[in-house]
Amino acid sequence: MDMYGIILKKREGGALTRDEIEYFVKGVTDGSIPDYQTSALLMAILWRGMDMDETYALTRAMKLSGDVVDLSGIDGIKVDKHSTGGVGDKTTLIVAPLAAACGVKVAKMSGRGLGFTGGTVDKMESIPGFKTALEPEEFFKQVREVGMSVIGQTAHVAPADKKLYALRDVTATIDNLSLITSSIMSKKLACGSDAIVLDVKCGDGAFMKNEEMAAELSNMMCEIGKADGKKTVAVITDMNQPLGNAVGNSLEVIEAIEVLKGHGPKDIEELALKLAGLMIYLGGHAKAADEGHEKAKAALENGAALEVFRRFVAAQGGNPGIVDDYKLLPQHSIEKEIRASSDGYVAEIKARGIGLASQHSGAGRATKEDEIDLSAGIYLSKKVGSAVKKGDVLATVYGNDAGKVERAAAEAEKAFKISDKAPDAPVLIKRVIGL
Ligand code: URA
Repeated sequence: MDMYGIILKKREGGALTRDEIEYFVKGVTDGSIPDYQTSALLMAILWRGMDMDETYALTRAMKLSGDVVDLSGIDGIKVDKHSTGGVGDKTTLIVAPLAAACGVKVAKMSGRGLGFTGGTVDKMESIPGFKTALEPEEFFKQVREVGMSVIGQTAHVAPADKKLYALRDVTATIDNLSLITSSIMSKKLACGSDAIVLDVKCGDGAFMKNEEMAAELSNMMCEIGKADGKKTVAVITDMNQPLGNAVGNSLEVIEAIEVLKGHGPKDIEELALKLAGLMIYLGGHAKAADEGHEKAKAALENGAALEVFRRFVAAQGGNPGIVDDYKLLPQHSIEKEIRASSDGYVAEIKARGIGLASQHSGAGRATKEDEIDLSAGIYLSKKVGSAVKKGDVLATVYGNDAGKVERAAAEAEKAFKISDKAPDAPVLIKRVIGL
């Protein structure tokens, strides 16, 4: 077997065997296949596609390219949750406590933000003292005792994906469903949970620009999860406008706490209850998704989920006092308001534009090495459908660098569109796949 033959076979539209795919992934992982051959195969896959058998073989080989976490020492059904990435998406910080408060065990690994999308690890690092790296035994112990732990994904999880993703990123080979599925699912399957709830975003601020593409990706990911023996469900959700009102690390931690206190924006509360309800159902703590939803709602209303959140923060070395005093979180020194230029209705708030603005404010990184300002970001005072008068505040940009705040405000202003007519109400939760 050699790489030339594998590239040629795919270039001509052939289906690769499991052995060929394993040979490729092993060579990518140990560095024996040069980047030019890997890139050539990625481009051939992009043009010719892969069938489900090939996609599963690729996912499985990538999963086995590094550590596979063994969570069997934790009793009960472990349920993971993953978002394909968006703007203002702080749902993990709400959903995991809701599910854990209802008896689900959540042993989760998350990533950092890059470009215009955020990452849970950065948000958690805005909590003073919070540790996002734990020894395996500490991680397991916390899940047993608190019901949840969220740590940063280590380099040992699906290392083949790290190399392949870096090459896809610079060879215009990101947008292929089999490559996206294998990238996401290899990492999720290596994290060891028994069931997975996927939040597949679609719209301006997401990889999948429309619902049909998101449904295709969801079907493929659910099928691959099931082929690997994991119950997998996907929820397709809107990412045309940011989720909630806060975008930026400590701002999003505050908003997550507000939701857990029952005072948060209704869109994010609705999505968090939906995802938590599905986790509670897949975790065996409800007979149906609706009952899971009711249980999640009760855990929100009676404060049980907020209590889990406090214990989670304290267990990972963070100061749980942040729940009652937001001033303990990183503080900004500069703010700039963006105001409506006319009367009307907010017709559009482009998620991608707000994500870029947040990145410019200092909250996000352009390259993996960039330092970020954990206090920076944007707070939206209006959402799509809000009626506005000329001069009303639409959003406020926060940060500590006047130049960055100015640049962010200019970008954020472009993301808003005001029209005379009220727009149709956006539908946040579009459909559930795989139940
Ligand atoms: N997220 C991933 O982890 N991989 C992809 O290919 C796309 C989104």
